[in-house]
Amino acid sequence: MSYRLLLVGPPGAGKGTQAELLCEALDIPAVSTGAIFRAHAAANDELGQLAASYTAKGELVPDEVTNRMVDARLDESDVAGGFLLDGYPRNVEQVAALDGLLAKRGIALDAVVLLVADDDVVAKRLLGRAAEQGRADDTEDVIRHRISLYHQTTQPLIDVYRERGLVVEVDGMGTVEDVSTSIRAALDSFIG
Ligand code: AP5
Ligand code: MG
Repeated sequence: MSYRLLLVGPPGAGKGTQAELLCEALDIPAVSTGAIFRAHAAANDELGQLAASYTAKGELVPDEVTNRMVDARLDESDVAGGFLLDGYPRNVEQVAALDGLLAKRGIALDAVVLLVADDDVVAKRLLGRAAEQGRADDTEDVIRHRISLYHQTTQPLIDVYRERGLVVEVDGMGTVEDVSTSIRAALDSFIG
């Protein structure tokens, strides 16, 4: 059984947290565009500097840059047996780009896991993380902007995948363990 999955949800829904648990259980790599941008920013290379100029404001990095980066990542050998994309695609244009990236490799998605969580809860989680980790985009204003951008720009792609019958919706408001159990159960009954 191959697993080619997307994990979609608002900032602070627990995508990164759940990606780690799910990927360990399914033995597939997690590919987080946000994490790749942060790694480049930490290395202070050209891509990192460019990405940071957008991520610091909670804006999306331009599609062309992001799509090219994902294309290169999907060429790496570890994703041959499956993968979980966390935070990509993030708008309908990126959905079309991903369709192309998958089609040229002759592969398709198995499911899109949607983590649902309330705005006020995710904002509180991110403010909590700001205190612990000091992520540059976890300031109150930028958190608010990331949440509103999610509703405007990212949420519409859920309907695209819903029409394709790929969306598996999971309540992201419980404990980390509860949410993890719900994701596994929902995926098991969806994919079999
Ligand atoms: P990205 O890194 O994807 O950030 P995000 O979507 O804003 O989401 P977060 O990583 O903040 O939250 P998460 O859902 O992963 O939650 P987490 O598990 O960490 O993107 C960052 C930026 O990069 C974007 O703003 C954009 O600029 C750029 N970018 C990325 N992808 C792009 C793309 N495709 N195109 C263009 N630009 C792109 O949990 C959050 C906190 O809550 C943690 O402290 C955690 O411990 C806690 N927590 C998790 N689960 C629970 C729970 N169940 N109960 C209580 N606390 C919990
Ligand atoms: Mg994350």
